[in-house]
Amino acid sequence: MTPEHQTLPDAPSDDAVRNRIVDDLTRARQRTTLLTDAVGDDELVRQHSRLMSPLVWDLAHIGNQEELWLLRDVGGRDPLLPETVDQLYDAFQHPRADRPSLPLLDPTESRRYISDVRSRVIDLLERTPLRGRPLTEGGFVFGMIAQHEQQHAETMLATHQLRRGDPVLDAPLPPAAPDDRPPAQILVPAGPFTMGTSAHPWALDNERPAHRVQVDAFWLDSVPVSNADYQDFLADGGYADRRWWDPVGWEHVQRAGLSAPLFWRREGRDWLRRRFGRTEVVPPDEPVMHVCWYEADAYARWAGRRLPTEAEWEKAARHDPGSGDTRQYPWGNDDATADRANLGQDHLGPAPIGAYPAGASPLGIRQLIGDVWEWTSSDFAGYPGFAPWPYREYSEVFFGPEYKVLRGGSFAADRVACRGTFRNWDYPIRRQIFAGFRCARDAADGEG
Ligand SMILES: [Fe+2]
Repeated sequence: MTPEHQTLPDAPSDDAVRNRIVDDLTRARQRTTLLTDAVGDDELVRQHSRLMSPLVWDLAHIGNQEELWLLRDVGGRDPLLPETVDQLYDAFQHPRADRPSLPLLDPTESRRYISDVRSRVIDLLERTPLRGRPLTEGGFVFGMIAQHEQQHAETMLATHQLRRGDPVLDAPLPPAAPDDRPPAQILVPAGPFTMGTSAHPWALDNERPAHRVQVDAFWLDSVPVSNADYQDFLADGGYADRRWWDPVGWEHVQRAGLSAPLFWRREGRDWLRRRFGRTEVVPPDEPVMHVCWYEADAYARWAGRRLPTEAEWEKAARHDPGSGDTRQYPWGNDDATADRANLGQDHLGPAPIGAYPAGASPLGIRQLIGDVWEWTSSDFAGYPGFAPWPYREYSEVFFGPEYKVLRGGSFAADRVACRGTFRNWDYPIRRQIFAGFRCARDAADGEG
């Protein structure tokens, strides 16, 4: 057991780290290319929703961040384009709604730019020592850039979901769920566990440092809440009963006129949904998705339960009650594979409830990683001993009660940007993200 009670694989050689970086950068670029080649240039420059950037902004922003961090900071190189270009792609200078009116690089210029950056980065990687400087230690900043591109791939997929028009994306269906199903709720025994990490070389600042947290015994749903479960809440008039709603959420539901998950509509007796340009009957056995935090919170109250705290979620996902160790993933320390978790946009939606038994936690809880991001009850905050790294704007400026934490990654998140410690955050009204939830409840005295 390491000092932080975490089992971690041996540190890989520098050559292995470089190979991994190339692999992760290449996979990210294949995804970016697929998502941006799927539509014509007119659709790349158009804004499909005021919530999102035009896809061509994401495209050049990906390259610009890669140039700033890797070529200029690590490599000390001169800018590839006039420096006025940098501010166009600075997310803090321009809200998404304003980005279409900026003098952006056009699709051809954007593609040429990101490809120029990438070929220079591969060259730089070969010459860069991966030890001795914090930014490049263990390949950190190269990994951060691969994660960044994959996070934009998820954002770009959300733009595709908001886009109107004929379908342009296709992927095989996710695997079916096996017949054997875990009990609906599983008891997670009381006791401390190690939350966060100080050891994972590519962990971001908000995942650090590792620290011991005491968690009382609680019951957690063994699978995410399904569309069928959620339809029971709808059928019971859940959206019209203020008893179930946080007061701010109730106000929001009235003002925004919410009556079902985003992209759902009623037709006769059926609920239909639109997904990536196709309209279909809502499948009952899929995790519910495109609900905001307030909807998740209201459902949980209606069901006599609550959302798990972030610490509860992470303990369920990483703690092995048998050994006392904390793992990187529910299944252990090895990377995610296609039989363990639905990640990386291999499929264009979550798998049915109960799928991926090979990815279950030691207690048998399934689908914690992949499928849908899971809302937790927790506000986004720094861990004890938090230090901003490598820049304040990555996490620290978002700490506070405005943002709720989501865990576990979705089918649209890549494995490089998804760990048992990985933290996502968003406003509690957000619905275009690929988010669902599962419920928890306190254990009674004497249980666990
Ligand atoms: Fe970004």
